[in-house]
Amino acid sequence: MRAVPGAQDPAGITGPSADDPATCPFVPPDVTEAPGAGGLRPAPGHRGPDDPPPPSLRAPGTDRDPYPLYRTLRASYPLVHDEAFGAWLVSRYGDVRAALTDPRLVAPPPGRTLAHLEDRTHAVHRALLQPALRGRALAALRAGVERAAYVLAHRLSERQEADLVAEFCQWLPAVAAVTALGLPHEDTARVREWCREGLTHLGDGHGDLDAFLRPHVARRRARPGDDLLSVLSTARADGSHLPDETVVGLAGTLLGAGGEATHLALASFLANLLDHPAQLRLVRERPVLIPAAWVESLRRDPAVHIVLRRALVPVVTGAGTIPAGADVACLVGAAGRDPTRFAVPDRYDILRPAPGQLAFGAGRHRCLGVQLARLTAECALHALLEALPHLRWAPGGRPASAGLITRGPKTLPVLLS
Ligand code: HEM
Repeated sequence: MRAVPGAQDPAGITGPSADDPATCPFVPPDVTEAPGAGGLRPAPGHRGPDDPPPPSLRAPGTDRDPYPLYRTLRASYPLVHDEAFGAWLVSRYGDVRAALTDPRLVAPPPGRTLAHLEDRTHAVHRALLQPALRGRALAALRAGVERAAYVLAHRLSERQEADLVAEFCQWLPAVAAVTALGLPHEDTARVREWCREGLTHLGDGHGDLDAFLRPHVARRRARPGDDLLSVLSTARADGSHLPDETVVGLAGTLLGAGGEATHLALASFLANLLDHPAQLRLVRERPVLIPAAWVESLRRDPAVHIVLRRALVPVVTGAGTIPAGADVACLVGAAGRDPTRFAVPDRYDILRPAPGQLAFGAGRHRCLGVQLARLTAECALHALLEALPHLRWAPGGRPASAGLITRGPKTLPVLLS
């Protein structure tokens, strides 16, 4: 894995991840060439020449704990240009929602994932994927995900301790992706690696994923099944099959966007419940609360903290003007803790009324995997609660979360008996 330039990596984990600004669609492509931390340009009318520069996303330690910065931004810099990061920052709940849904703010090119596309191509490709990730198709996936969660959880039940990230959270989304795409189950370990890498592997020249998927695409074209890869391989747009590259790109989007985000969100979900034994007990007693517990965890600790957009034209907001061509970082992690939207926003509370939801983005790019992710989380928690009645933190305390763009605990050391 490659480290994020300029970012701390307290867990000592380095390598490709969606935090890599060189290829991640959530990060401006020129961010590696930006000057060092600090040196922000404020929204017009918000900062005089003698005012101290506001803090930056690239300031040391922000990837370990972005919340003090989020508080400052929400309170004092609702729209500010972060030169070091290379984007305008938007942090209040209402502003983030407005930015995500503004048609003048588009997905920043270049890239070949769905998240990079706009206009008709985006609408066509989205419409191809959508039916396969909801309704009957999703119900058909449930059995596979349930079985995988059961097997993974029961494999742990004889153990004294485990790391739930490495031994559970990273595996379950990979199994869900393999099942959805109809890939051979013996390839789950390879798929898990692509899922873990996130969207970085979808940049140009990711030959091994192409080489892996292309023969499967050719086979589906000759003999389609009822899996998602067959749907994509046989789909026609304007009378012709989608090019192989497009099919591979779409399938890769599912592995990258879905795999990494789901494993991080699942890890944060389990961490929140382990941090709050009374609420964990409550979901054990009343499993009907599991969906609310999942949504609340996504609010407080979203897997994707920053979603990028680019302004097509100058965009005038109440807090200033975003120039045409500028990148905008929608700080989903800051929006989820906006005190004007959520009472006591740092608290994890599964009984919170109407927690709101920006963790999956909003507008025409809103995540297509919302239901699959929820299904995966529900199956995961059901299986873990059933197989591991004594689940609790191992001594030593809760490991910190890390990551600026995507974020979650890197380990979950637990006692099982
Ligand atoms: C908890 C897990 C997940 C989280 C937190 C998450 C989050 C996100 C976010 C923030 C976006 C960007 C939305 C925007 O630009 O407005 C996105 C896009 C996307 N996600 Fe997810 N995602 C998750 C799981 C999944 C899964 C399981 C899949 C599919 C298997 C998936 C497929 C996609 C796709 C295809 C897009 C691009 C949609 C578009 O541009 O039209 N995601 N996701």
